[in-house]
Amino acid sequence: MEKRIESGLLQGFSIEGPCAVITDTHVAELYGKAFAERINCPLIVIPAGESSKNREMKNGIEDRLLELGFGSDVTIISLGGGVVSDLAGFVAATYCRGVRYIVFPTTLMAMCDAAIGGKNAVNIGIAKNAIGTVYHPEAFLIDPDVLESLPEEEYLAGTAEMLKHGLIWDKELWKFLLKNLQKWKVRDALFLQKCIAWNISIKTKVIETADRNILNFGHTIGHALEMTHKMNHGFAIALGMWIESLWSIGWNKEVEMGLHAFGFDLEWPDVDLDAFWNVVMQDKKRKGDAVYAVALEEIGKVAGLKEITQDAIASCLSLQA
Ligand SMILES: NC(=O)c1ccc[n+]([C@@H]2O[C@H](COP(=O)([O-])OP(=O)(O)OC[C@H]3O[C@@H](n4cnc5c(N)ncnc54)[C@H](O)[C@@H]3O)[C@@H](O)[C@H]2O)c1
Repeated sequence: MEKRIESGLLQGFSIEGPCAVITDTHVAELYGKAFAERINCPLIVIPAGESSKNREMKNGIEDRLLELGFGSDVTIISLGGGVVSDLAGFVAATYCRGVRYIVFPTTLMAMCDAAIGGKNAVNIGIAKNAIGTVYHPEAFLIDPDVLESLPEEEYLAGTAEMLKHGLIWDKELWKFLLKNLQKWKVRDALFLQKCIAWNISIKTKVIETADRNILNFGHTIGHALEMTHKMNHGFAIALGMWIESLWSIGWNKEVEMGLHAFGFDLEWPDVDLDAFWNVVMQDKKRKGDAVYAVALEEIGKVAGLKEITQDAIASCLSLQA
């Protein structure tokens, strides 16, 4: 564990002035304790996992910052995955009406997606990302070396988002990922560095030049699968992308083979479709009684948001059978 802190960006980082590092229990053990000790600043640790992304946890972090005597000159450093950056970013945006903020994402998901674009939030009950702000960090620092310790299922979750960026925006990225499957498997550092930079530039371009909603490709079905089947995020989004691809462009062998190649299972689980649809109806892209999903036009290009119905999903599933 300590070896990791001795190399890479975390080791080279230095900062002046008061600061506090926010991390979670897993990352604290792997990197956080040694990092905070080296830069001589307090470490605020939250329990790892989505259930920490709530208002009480945000209050707790703010109380701790106040107890430690921090004022408006503090720099908040986020060290962790998307849960940590969503919470830390929200705290940074509101503590003393906004303080300096630096992000060290430590999951592939946070490097390629969650920590990009400035959005942060906490959940209220099952209302995901119900309150939050848009607040940009002063610095965004990536050390791909930390991905060595990332559990396989979290690596897959980040991979699903990279594939999504290829499918909605850039066929070259999609092809590059497939061509370099072996490097992906062994988490080759140079390959990951290139992919992360590529994905950051895609997410930034989408936010600056297009309808940000297209980033939700695969998520209308995927989020509902996560809720109904407690399916792992990466697998749920991959299956969501497959069904939304079937719905929008029909059976596409390249999409199917590509998702399979990364180990995603595209079998539809045993789901009561009525119950499933009730969950889909909670999607944030719902308007009145209509639910919208992101339709592809072809690999690398979206057609836009289109209404999706329970019957349309049933037809896709019959294609699957
Ligand atoms: N703000 C946005 O624009 C945006 C976009 C996408 C997702 N998100 C949010 O991001 C969150 C998901 O982020 P995530 O997938 O990073 O999950 P996460 O933050 O829960 O991290 C996943 C797990 O990996 C562990 N971990 C983190 N880095 C590690 C490392 N280097 N080595 C070993 N273990 C490590 C964590 O402790 C945790 O157990 C969700 O809450 C989602 O809503 C936000």
